[in-house]
Amino acid sequence: MGGKGWFLLKLLMFQGLFTSRLQDPGFDFFYFVLQWPGAYCDTKRACCYPTTGKPAADFGIHGLWPNYNDGSYPSNCDPDSEFDPAEISDLVSTMQTKWPTLSCPSNNGSKFWEHEWEKHGTCSESVMDQHKYFENTLALRDRVNLLQILQDAGINPDDEFYDLQDIKNAIKDGTGFTPVIHCNKDPEKNSQLHEIFFCVDTSGTEFIECPIIPRDRCPSKLQFAMF
Ligand SMILES: *[C@@H]1O[C@H](CO)[C@@H](O)[C@H](O)[C@H]1NC(C)=O
Repeated sequence: MGGKGWFLLKLLMFQGLFTSRLQDPGFDFFYFVLQWPGAYCDTKRACCYPTTGKPAADFGIHGLWPNYNDGSYPSNCDPDSEFDPAEISDLVSTMQTKWPTLSCPSNNGSKFWEHEWEKHGTCSESVMDQHKYFENTLALRDRVNLLQILQDAGINPDDEFYDLQDIKNAIKDGTGFTPVIHCNKDPEKNSQLHEIFFCVDTSGTEFIECPIIPRDRCPSKLQFAMF
């Protein structure tokens, strides 16, 4: 190859490197995590309702978490990027209903959202600023009416026990995507439906099949707690 060819090749390689750097978000996918308030509250540690009142008996958002394909995840990526409630003031009332805190002592949710932004949100700043991060997460929540999907399949938050596989099948049928389910334990050590994980592409807007399939942290029969 002549001098000109080399030059063009190097130019192309350099450009390729440059654009792939620019487009690499620094993580591989998101987990979008919903939590069942009945299970959060039904543990030895118990819970506290937010100052805005008892949340609806519905799945609330836990968070949107950047993840790597090897199963590990980045966290606390930018200590200089503090949670700023002023940046999301237009979203706060929606967050109070769809992303309610249940931690004690009772509070208005700012601490929960601050934790989520600082631990997880700062690791996807290459894709979304703070407002977009919370806005996109709320929009994802609107696209999965999980409680309705489960109830349509006869799976209700009535303290009864259900098959893990039936729960997964109902969610897969209702959303098109296979969820990952985590359980926690009530004071009597019964396993109960606690968190549902979905995977989302690096834009934070489209559900995808999970690139890695972590195991469900639940036995084959689990309780769906009342709230
Ligand atoms: C929530 O409470 C904190 C103090 O605990 C306060 O600084 C903040 O402004 C409150 N936020 C909202 C949205 O009411």
